Amino acid sequence: MQQLTGAGILGTGHYVPERVLTNADLENMVDTSDEWIRTRTGIEKRHLAADNEDTSDLASKAAQQAMDAAGISPEEIDFIIVATASPDYTVPSTACMVQQKLGCTKAGGIDLSAGCAGFVYAVSVGSQMVRTGMYKKVLVIGAEVLSRVVNWNDRNTCILFGDGAGAAVLGPVEEGYGFLGADMGVDGSLGNILSIPASGVAEPVTHRAIDSGRIYIHMEGSEVFKAAVRHMDSTTLRALEKADMTKEDIDLLIVHQANYRIIQATAKKLDIPADKLFINIEKYGNTSAASVGIALDEAVRSGRVHHGDRIVMTGFGAGLAWGSVVMRWM
Ligand code: UT7
Repeated sequence: MQQLTGAGILGTGHYVPERVLTNADLENMVDTSDEWIRTRTGIEKRHLAADNEDTSDLASKAAQQAMDAAGISPEEIDFIIVATASPDYTVPSTACMVQQKLGCTKAGGIDLSAGCAGFVYAVSVGSQMVRTGMYKKVLVIGAEVLSRVVNWNDRNTCILFGDGAGAAVLGPVEEGYGFLGADMGVDGSLGNILSIPASGVAEPVTHRAIDSGRIYIHMEGSEVFKAAVRHMDSTTLRALEKADMTKEDIDLLIVHQANYRIIQATAKKLDIPADKLFINIEKYGNTSAASVGIALDEAVRSGRVHHGDRIVMTGFGAGLAWGSVVMRWM
């Protein structure tokens, strides 16, 4: 039996594709307005992958940045976890593509499906691999090319999502730092309010599914909205309790960037003031599993994160699935 060790983040990175789609561009595509999108979501623009860019390309670029920040080489990575709802293929996993693209010659790897809670789930799982001593360096990535699974004729969804990737290298840290508590939950009874109906064996991709648009994201927006606000503060409180902390201890709260109003509602329920809340949804839209990873990296690179800070990351999305992690920054 190996001794438990602290597990934390050694380096972060993110990547968004060059192409930008503004709200003004969307006004020419569907019946919407810049004003509606800004006031209902907080989004001003989003980035879209080029035709030759896949989820694994975005993931690899974010991961390379995270490895550079951690000062480690690809050969040192023991395991890769890619959280995504838009994998390169159903089989093989996107983690295998990333392994090959980065040259992580000694790594194992898996994909993880937890919708927009994906990055939080991936760091929860990866940190336990480090904590138990099973692995020393685990690469976790949230990456999406949602632009290829969005129906560009559906104004309910196409204005929301963007492409991007966020990554972190996890490794051993001094006990008392790194990941201190986590909470995860799912509710499959509400799986139908946010899904890609024809995307697996239950409803295979047929000509009929293509013609009826069931190969694209289906979302009952206001139901998802209500559930998000219902769950994100409670999962945060449970994770804090496991870390022996209270909401007053939070130095920085990173909420999944789904909608400005959801982020504000979650912060309000937790009494978190604006200066302890990280928001970048205006630039990227909802990048699903990538959003928390991108936000974390931007927070780190912009000097918002300091030694000893207590940081909470919380996510919510398709499943329904939600989760939070509490960490103390090295
Ligand atoms: O990442 C995790 C999963 N996703 C989320 O967390 C997203 C959660 N949901 C949301 O962010 C919001 O529900 C939306 C932004 C998607 C929609 O905002 P809403 O305030 O819940 O609007 P709604 O769906 O209740 O629609 C209100 C009205 C409707 O018109 P009527 O029926 O009142 O005449 C919609 O048809 O707004 C209309 N509408 C639009 N109008 C202009 C819906 N989409 C648009 C649009 N432009 N793009």
